Amino acid sequence: MIFDTGLKLNDLELVPFKKITIDKQDIVIGKKNNHVFAFNNTCPHKGASLSKGILDGDNIVCYMHGYEYDIFTGKLKNMKSWKKDTTWIEQNSQWRYSDDLKTYKIYLDNEKILIELN
Ligand code: FES
Repeated sequence: MIFDTGLKLNDLELVPFKKITIDKQDIVIGKKNNHVFAFNNTCPHKGASLSKGILDGDNIVCYMHGYEYDIFTGKLKNMKSWKKDTTWIEQNSQWRYSDDLKTYKIYLDNEKILIELN
């Protein structure tokens, strides 16, 4: 189903991304190199809010444990454990597991940004 995000292309000019809620889903949406990206706000690792993360190239870096996901494809790109020595307490070997990030298809209607949720 396609929804109007309520955003226009120029709403994404001065910020790296915005968090919006559509149909009870929190979504991060932004624009990089003239391409709009959108992904689920929930980190597939342990559920942190990815809108609190930072962009590093084409990756969103989760603020919680530093896992990185490609903002366009959603692929898990890096599971580096940069916080492990000081903050991680692994419960078991499954603790490190993460899936890819859910991304959404974007459509443009002139300047309006539309999103397909399924
Ligand atoms: S919750 Fe995002 S990296 Fe762990």
